[in-house]
Amino acid sequence: MQKEELEQTLVLIKPDALKNSLTGYVLSQLSEVHSGLRFAGAKIVQVSRMLADQHYAEHRGKVFFPALLDYIMGLEHYPNDPWKRRVIAFVFQGPGAIAKIRAIAGPTNPHEAREKRPGCIRALGTIVLLKDAAGNVIGDRIDNLIHASATDTEAEREIKLWFKPSDIPPLMHAYPTEVNEDHYYFNDKSLSMTQESGSVCLLAPGDYVWKSDLDALRLIYKGQPSPCTIEMVAAKYLINEKRETV
Ligand code: RTP
Ligand code: MG
Repeated sequence: MQKEELEQTLVLIKPDALKNSLTGYVLSQLSEVHSGLRFAGAKIVQVSRMLADQHYAEHRGKVFFPALLDYIMGLEHYPNDPWKRRVIAFVFQGPGAIAKIRAIAGPTNPHEAREKRPGCIRALGTIVLLKDAAGNVIGDRIDNLIHASATDTEAEREIKLWFKPSDIPPLMHAYPTEVNEDHYYFNDKSLSMTQESGSVCLLAPGDYVWKSDLDALRLIYKGQPSPCTIEMVAAKYLINEKRETV
């Protein structure tokens, strides 16, 4: 396959789209007929706080960050129905995948989307004001129905955060993979290669993983600087695991 055919992007159908029963509408907008792109991966995810925090790491410290995590975790739209708190994650593949899906999604802010790009997906979104304890407006939460990777670098980071290689057919892989030969355990933000009380096994020999995950784990284990954190690797391998609490 030619390199441009391998271009991939991550799409998340967010909890507000699920709550408003817009999944079918969103998927029809992104369908091969409209976008010329193919599905490479799909999964339903109950988003843990660790995964939410890693996904939106660039927004840490901003006033809307706590509300953004609650939103993507489904806490805002399903406060009383924890089993309904889901996001549907997709990898779309094909030439120009990133720009095409961003265009179909539209501007981040739904008000701007309605004004400048009527008909785009995010034109159906809403903005919720965030208030402090005294009732003063301190910012806003933007409920804009879908996430779409913005750049090649972002797409690679995000696809590797949400998907394991085995979630994507091998002939559609855009990034190098490796077969792991060791045990890696995760315990309260730390990594070990032996099981300890309270630790969970992230990887076992024979597991098929992104090469960059293994490179990162080896560096982290040796205490050397790594391009990604242990949480970044662990969040994915713990997706939908009962042992991972939200
Ligand atoms: P996304 O990552 O979800 O596709 O959105 P985006 O690239 O268009 O925008 P980005 O800057 O990456 O922001 C990620 C999400 O954070 C929320 N946001 N709120 N209140 C605010 O000023 C603000 N800015 C961003 C939105 O939910 C946005 O989709
Ligand atoms: Mg973004």
